[in-house]
Amino acid sequence: MRENNIKVVATSSYLPASELTNEDLEKLVDTSDEWIQSRTGIKKRRIAKDETVLDLAYRAAKLAIKKIKYDVRKIDLIICATISSEHIMPSVASSLQGKLKLNDQEITCFDLNAACTGFIYALNVATQMLNSGNYKSALIVGAEKLSNVVDYTDRNTCVLFGDGAGAMIIENSNNNPAYFYTSSSGDLQNYLYLKDKIKLNGPKVYEFAITIIPHTIKTLLKNTKTSIDDIDMIIPHQANYRIINAAANSLNISNDKFYVNIRNYGNTSAASVIIALDEYLNQKPRKENQKIMLIAFGGGFTWGGAILSI
Ligand code: ACO
Repeated sequence: MRENNIKVVATSSYLPASELTNEDLEKLVDTSDEWIQSRTGIKKRRIAKDETVLDLAYRAAKLAIKKIKYDVRKIDLIICATISSEHIMPSVASSLQGKLKLNDQEITCFDLNAACTGFIYALNVATQMLNSGNYKSALIVGAEKLSNVVDYTDRNTCVLFGDGAGAMIIENSNNNPAYFYTSSSGDLQNYLYLKDKIKLNGPKVYEFAITIIPHTIKTLLKNTKTSIDDIDMIIPHQANYRIINAAANSLNISNDKFYVNIRNYGNTSAASVIIALDEYLNQKPRKENQKIMLIAFGGGFTWGGAILSI
């Protein structure tokens, strides 16, 4: 596993204001707060009422830029990971360039679909592009309005998903090692499928998830010769609290090593890892020079992980 080097200069997260609680869902489908909490760990999720995926992406990007008063003129690469955009073309990334008033600049912009692993795929791609020497500064966004693609009459899926966005700005560096591992299984069974609305074979995806998370963690540790004790925090994709628990138990890693915020936001697909990472990094006191592991899996199936020095 080749060492890359990137400096994470800012992270951010944006959650739309409106909440959809388990009690609200009890009025829509045959479910209960007790069932949802005990099977998934989710209590509520956010719903973007009047905002599009682009709006969510823009708000997250602006927050990251504002946080460190970043000179946006440095940005020469924008990647948006999403599966729920209102339109395929133009890309959210291109529209974001315009909304950030950067349309007079030469910027490479594209969207990336790797389902819930999208942010880690996008970060991997951006890192390789920066480390090639041809780019200097990348804005990477995970933005989802899953309420666009959730069927609120299907209790198998509607309890799981929420809306939100997160952003990260990265630059080249000489002393912040970063490692990536990404892959896919070529699933033709459509266990997790999105045409107009998300369809999910819950038990099949669950089975896959509790195997692939430990596999991804072990692969990253082995190939980078890192001990789990050297990792300050694992930020997993927030799909189901039980999945994270099962992965922790199977590896004999303490649950405290996994950052979990699924209770408040549900599964926000490509936005979930960056929202959780930003929340974790905002905690006080903030420890410097941390080794953070990101882990995700999603439709495709896709999976991947990263070890970052932040
Ligand atoms: N409320 C009440 N009962 C329900 C609900 C609900 N919302 N949903 C399903 N049930 C019922 C089922 O009908 C079933 O009833 P039955 O026994 O009478 O047939 C029973 O509960 C058990 O159903 P299972 O599907 O076996 O429940 P399970 O414990 O597996 O939990 C869940 C379902 C939460 C979906 C779980 O399988 C899971 O988390 N799967 C993974 C989902 C996931 O990780 N998705 C991430 C990828 S998302 C992406 O990439 C975009």
